Amino acid sequence: KMKTFIENLMKKMTLEEKLGQLNLPASGDIITGAGSNNNIAEKIKEGKVGGLFNIKSAEKIRAVQQIAVEQSRLKIPLIFGMDVIHGYQTVFPIPLGMSCSWDMALIEYSARIAAQEASADGICWTFSPMVDIARDPRWGRVSEGSGEDTYLGSKIAQSMVKGYQGDDLRKNNTILACVKHFALYGAAEAGRDYNTTDMSHIRMYNEYLPPYKAALDAGAGSIMASFNEIDGIPATGNKWLLTDLLRKEWGFNGFVVTDYTGIAEMTPHGMGDLKAVSALALNAGVDMDMVSDGLLTTIEASLKEGKVTQQKIDEACRRILEAKYKLGLFDDPYRYCDVNRAKAEVFTPENRQAAREIAAQTFVLLKNDNQTLPLQNKKTIALVGPLADNRENMPGTWSVAGDFAKSVSLLDGLKNVLGNEANILYAMGTNVVSDPKLDARISIFGKPTKWDSRSQKEMIAEAVAAAQKSDVVIAAVGESSEMSGEASSRSDISLPENQKELLEALLATGKPVVMVLFTGRPLTINWEKANIPAILNVWFAGSEAGNAIADVLLGKVNPSGKLSSTFPQNVGQIPLYYNHKNTGRPLDEGKWFSKFRSNYLDVSNDPLFPFGFGLSYTTFDYKNLKLSDSNLTATGKLKVSVDLNNSGNYDGAEVVQLYIRDMVGSVTRPVKELKGFQKVFLKKGETRTVEFTLTEKDLRFYNSDLKFVSEPGDFKVFVGTNSANTLEAGFVLK
Ligand code: IFM
Repeated sequence: KMKTFIENLMKKMTLEEKLGQLNLPASGDIITGAGSNNNIAEKIKEGKVGGLFNIKSAEKIRAVQQIAVEQSRLKIPLIFGMDVIHGYQTVFPIPLGMSCSWDMALIEYSARIAAQEASADGICWTFSPMVDIARDPRWGRVSEGSGEDTYLGSKIAQSMVKGYQGDDLRKNNTILACVKHFALYGAAEAGRDYNTTDMSHIRMYNEYLPPYKAALDAGAGSIMASFNEIDGIPATGNKWLLTDLLRKEWGFNGFVVTDYTGIAEMTPHGMGDLKAVSALALNAGVDMDMVSDGLLTTIEASLKEGKVTQQKIDEACRRILEAKYKLGLFDDPYRYCDVNRAKAEVFTPENRQAAREIAAQTFVLLKNDNQTLPLQNKKTIALVGPLADNRENMPGTWSVAGDFAKSVSLLDGLKNVLGNEANILYAMGTNVVSDPKLDARISIFGKPTKWDSRSQKEMIAEAVAAAQKSDVVIAAVGESSEMSGEASSRSDISLPENQKELLEALLATGKPVVMVLFTGRPLTINWEKANIPAILNVWFAGSEAGNAIADVLLGKVNPSGKLSSTFPQNVGQIPLYYNHKNTGRPLDEGKWFSKFRSNYLDVSNDPLFPFGFGLSYTTFDYKNLKLSDSNLTATGKLKVSVDLNNSGNYDGAEVVQLYIRDMVGSVTRPVKELKGFQKVFLKKGETRTVEFTLTEKDLRFYNSDLKFVSEPGDFKVFVGTNSANTLEAGFVLK
């Protein structure tokens, strides 16, 4: 039915109208980059627009849709996209935070709520999930992904797609997912956004490509080309990537959209003028042009010159129309623009409650000496730091539909949870950064960091006075939300010096200090780790951040988040990730340094916090790692079990992690690879046997011919609480 409908429609379309379907301008309603569009209505009437993004609200979108379906010749509805990245108006934690929950049901649920809200307010297409593997915390966009690991990243990619698209895209509360940024965007050299990538195909296939594939296998209907080059050709014009791999090898039949001005940017990449790069993009496999206007304005000439074919134009047009058809837009172009539904379903108390509960699952307890947390003696609390009373910075980067004024700051949250139980003395203590020029660069498009023009001395003195009168100090420090995210790379990923000064002054009071760390990336917090008794990493936790943090600080929720990215000791160690190769000269286990081994003179190879790390208010003991057999056959199953005991004083959840190592291969294999995890809730004192099943399929990898194979031989299996602390056993794959 769809095929015939679209064939019939396409027969009526002029070349210009077909090219119009490939055109995705920004409406200019929400600013996420340069450019806005004033004559958009005229273009829509002329059939020169296929979809629109950066426009918000059911009313506005309905009005624009009305122009398309009433005033354009063929009345083809528009598709409306938005960066619904971690929630819509109810904002959930940034994706890096979400990934630290290691809870797939929760992640899917958050995407479901995001889709429910967005679809009620006019949006039917989200530019999410971002599944770029990232191992360089200098890159600001680590905040938007799921960290460094291929296996975890792939599972999360699938859960998000399921959450957005549900079981049926034709339901009006589901939205089309767009996997991004295809591909390797997270491997930008030196962690500088938009920079070059250069990678072997074996690494791509084994480590970077699987999450994109997982998202497409889960049914994602669209994919966004990345800004970077691959093998010397920008992804947007890369035929190997967008056709040979994506369509021929992976069988993808949805549509490819460029990133913002991705086509036009191929000119400074050095690929020719707009006409040349537009033809390059179309021929490579791009179907929709975000903002460049290149496909709309140059392809007709390229067609006349034989540089592109009518078939290519038709294929791209058909794919866009198919997506609109699958979304049900031809049946009812207004099906996502129900103003009453928007009023009833967006930012509801239920969704906010879900956001609060979800957020608490994403926090990672990095340190907790002497059981400083949960707070015991809390009659008078000094709450200090630039992020303590800062609603604007709670939602985090890319929360374009968030209502910042309604987000809950930590000060709000503590007051909400404690009521009259405690006296809270608030002082800002210092600014986020001390250099106003840096502050201006940080806030350029995003939320202001909140600037206090008093002197550092004066502000610290006020904070110290509050601390001296208190039983405990909570220091809300870290990055402001726009210090990570797009175009927010940093070469120094430590806490700004002025914030460290504040922490030093607070410690000098002798009061117990709890550091609540806001960040969109792993940070080099060595001094803080060495000196501050308790550190709770809360990322940017969304609309309900403050309530969720208060729940955890006060012990209403026991933290269970585990890092999805390694925290390095210093920038010089980057890229530092747990599943590295062994090299021919590995450093012996437990050693700090050996001459002529692979290490540094000035820092050990260890991370500050390893992948998978995260404490709880309780303690978990691992015992009795057992394998059901010492061999695994090609068709068999190997059961791996471990006894997990909650040996502390609180009920709590633990993420049990299973890693393997392939000891000998036709190509070198990583020292550890995550192959399974389970989040297990245990009452205090409870013991449970946690069981995993491994099959031959779990042991496959891409060999030097890029064939996905397993190779018989010795394997190790590790189970434990993080990537660096595991029990170990061995088996043979027959
Ligand atoms: O979806 C985003 C992308 O991640 C970065 N450039 C802009 C796009 C649309 O806003």
